[in-house]
Amino acid sequence: MTISDGRIGAKRPGWARWLGSTNTITQQFLTLGGRADVVSLAGGLPAAELYPIPAIQAAARRALETHGSAALEYGPVEGFPALRQLIAARVTAETGGVFTAANVLLTSGSMQALDLIGKVLIDAGDLIVAQSPTYLGALDAWRPRQPSYRRLDWDSHEAGFGEALAKAKFVYAVPNYSNPTGVLVAQDRRAALLDKVIAAGTWLVEDDPYHSIQLDGPPGRSILSHCVARKSGPYDGPVIYLGTVSKSLVPGLRVGWVIAEAGMIQNLALAKLATDLSGSMFTQAVTLDLLERDFDRHHAKTIVPLYRERRDALCREASLHLRDWFEWDVPVGGMFVWLRAKNRAIDTDELYKFAIEEKVAFVPGSVFDFAGEDRSAMRLNFTRSSPEVLAEGVRRLARAIGNYVSSRPQLKGRDRSRGASSG
Ligand SMILES: Cc1ncc(COP(=O)(O)O)c(C=O)c1O
Repeated sequence: MTISDGRIGAKRPGWARWLGSTNTITQQFLTLGGRADVVSLAGGLPAAELYPIPAIQAAARRALETHGSAALEYGPVEGFPALRQLIAARVTAETGGVFTAANVLLTSGSMQALDLIGKVLIDAGDLIVAQSPTYLGALDAWRPRQPSYRRLDWDSHEAGFGEALAKAKFVYAVPNYSNPTGVLVAQDRRAALLDKVIAAGTWLVEDDPYHSIQLDGPPGRSILSHCVARKSGPYDGPVIYLGTVSKSLVPGLRVGWVIAEAGMIQNLALAKLATDLSGSMFTQAVTLDLLERDFDRHHAKTIVPLYRERRDALCREASLHLRDWFEWDVPVGGMFVWLRAKNRAIDTDELYKFAIEEKVAFVPGSVFDFAGEDRSAMRLNFTRSSPEVLAEGVRRLARAIGNYVSSRPQLKGRDRSRGASSG
């Protein structure tokens, strides 16, 4: 054994190959965004001051009184039975379908569900059809499996899209208030995509964490419920629906769920067994207590007005300071505003460095693009910060844009005179 530079043994085996393709830029952005002196518009977090601590304390006490040691054991890998039943009953009521606990797998947030889906479906080179830009956590979860991607064309107008669907292992979509764009996909486009998915004989992963963050009215039917309407009897459709309490309650419970046909649930459970043996029965029992009382639905009535106020504050301030350079649609739900540069020569990876100089953080668009090519957009979060902090963040961002543009003579004088943005 050798000792060199304070480390025992100078030589180490190489890292697994997939780490070479990891997007460490994401970690850098999130770390910088977490600095105390930086106004972070980068994260995707709920408002911590609204976390319902007394309700969770009471639920935890009741969960231990009711379930005793069962809430502290390793449990069934599929999850706490009564919570699986409750989720099945909810989805039955919401969709009019026939769902039982056999259609439900409880996971450690929907992030684990994405990882497990990768484990059971993706071999190297397999094709995923996904919205672009799309949730970077999904890209991260599937990166070790080395899939290839094609952009999801909701209207199926692009040449070869039908053939691509037939080859794809699955389609990945966030139709409600997508991360990062905030887009709400129209019902006719959901139904049309489902038709294509059924015809192509592939799976469709519908990831729905923002469902309860309805800022301007409800989002309408899930793709899962469109699917249920196509065929009566026990659910056996191609839609794999992901839910979570991370946005409706708190992310720290780490409770999410997969709704799918029973065979898919069995395979996901096999994969989960090899990942963590069992989720936390304790937080699943706490979640059961809260959901039995419909606490999540009541809680939404508290958080939504505050989030609406924050969205409006961010968009108002952006209209005052950013519209010469960026445009955006005001999101009708979710947690993000997606700013697109009017001048595509603006590079938000570069702009980010200027933003950090001004002590403000956002997430550059490139990390949400599986090709890494879209460098002219950025995601701003409005749920985590007060209206005053959001306003300060936007003012700092405006200064950063000014500095960036001044340093790039080719950008100066271009596009500044274009009309007001949709924001
Ligand atoms: C689209 C999407 N899917 C999944 C997740 C992960 O959520 P969870 O906390 O349930 O793991 C997020 C979190 O931001 C998300 O935006």
